[in-house]
Amino acid sequence: MKQQGAILWLTGLSGAGKTTIAVAVAEELQKRNYPTELLDGDIVRTHLSQGLGFSKQDRDINVRRIGFVANLLSRNGIIAIASAISPYRQVREELKQTTHNFIEIYIDAPLAVCEARDVKGLYAKAKAGEIKNFTGISDPYEAPINPDIICQTDKFTVEECVNQVLQYLERQGLIFNC
Ligand SMILES: Nc1ncnc2c1ncn2[C@@H]1O[C@H](COP(=O)(O)OP(=O)(O)OP(=O)(O)O)[C@@H](O)[C@H]1O
Ligand SMILES: [Mg+2]
Repeated sequence: MKQQGAILWLTGLSGAGKTTIAVAVAEELQKRNYPTELLDGDIVRTHLSQGLGFSKQDRDINVRRIGFVANLLSRNGIIAIASAISPYRQVREELKQTTHNFIEIYIDAPLAVCEARDVKGLYAKAKAGEIKNFTGISDPYEAPINPDIICQTDKFTVEECVNQVLQYLERQGLIFNC
């Protein structure tokens, strides 16, 4: 039987834990010999989306590009894991309708928790006005209304969140327990 691809679309605030969970899920899938590819927002912005900014229009273009590549991978049997803030609901919905096996995963942590983590020091800069259009501070984040999975990263460990994702994939018959 041919391996089914999928798109694991991780959306959430900066510092919510998208990259952390994406990398950990990818490692687990690769251990189980599932072909997997990561499309992380930060990396995509240095290649595929170099030159794009953070206006709504540019953010939507970035998300559509990631979705386009993820779809090519998914329909060829690869599990594509996309981790980008992707703050706008409408373009995520568009991808859900137009791509192969799109699974929306809300990486959910309260803004206060993300600010306290401030992994990249960007919240401090945004609050000091040094960065404009920063999601959660000076730009909107539209949380998913009906995501397939919600990972609450302020309440559960990375390992628990990863297991939540893997168990969902098992229930959907996209991967098998071994
Ligand atoms: N359950 C959890 N899941 C994921 N990350 C967690 C969890 N608990 C704590 N963390 C911590 O939260 C931080 C999340 O940072 P990460 O870079 O993954 O965020 P991000 O959503 O990718 O942000 P950005 O949009 O800026 O790239 C890390 O320091 C990680 O160790
Ligand atoms: Mg990240």
